[in-house]
Amino acid sequence: MKRLLAIAGSLRKHSYNRSLLRAAAELAPAGMSVVVYDALSSIPLFDEDLENATGGGPEPVRRLREQVETAEGILIATPEYNHSVPGVLKNAIDWLSRPAPREVLAGKPVALIGASGGPFGTRLAQAALRQVLYATESLVLPGPALYAREAAKLFDGEGRLADAATRDRLAGILSAFAVWIDRLRAEGAPGSP
Ligand SMILES: Cc1cc2nc3c(=O)[nH]c(=O)nc-3n(C[C@H](O)[C@H](O)[C@H](O)COP(=O)(O)O)c2cc1C
Repeated sequence: MKRLLAIAGSLRKHSYNRSLLRAAAELAPAGMSVVVYDALSSIPLFDEDLENATGGGPEPVRRLREQVETAEGILIATPEYNHSVPGVLKNAIDWLSRPAPREVLAGKPVALIGASGGPFGTRLAQAALRQVLYATESLVLPGPALYAREAAKLFDGEGRLADAATRDRLAGILSAFAVWIDRLRAEGAPGSP
């Protein structure tokens, strides 16, 4: 069984990006499960003094680090804020990037998706996130991609992903991610258990 940890870069209750992750949990292929991380708001702002005083970060950071470490892959759904990654997501990645106690994102298979209200569907945010994940030495699925634009048209009143083409695309990404994880595992990538 491949267990994915799915992280949405939004704290908003009715976040389209979190809704995308819930859809991913429904659409995961056989042999893959998706656990949606729901504690991003508990991660404090990164502060090296706090990191040192707590031996790598306080309890919420420790829990997130463990969840990332034990997952076979990370699925990130990012909103786009001012043509880039929302601060809350970048902040969590900054914590996870630190060498002490462990660089849990190094060698970790990661897949990116995103939804925005506008017409460009998080293209710039995903490009910026790829650059950040290059620094963390994560192994990011090269494609296919999902840039879910004009998100209000894609979800129903309950926040369920209703658009058939977007559901198909998301299912295709999850299948490609399963192949990517197997390939990295076969090659002995350090972060793929
Ligand atoms: C501070 C801020 C900046 C934003 N900048 C962009 C942007 O550059 N491009 C874009 O497509 N949408 C932008 N948006 C709109 C977001 O795409 C929209 O709020 C989206 O629903 C956020 O994702 P969520 O539903 O997961 O919270 C911005 C929203 C905020 C709050």
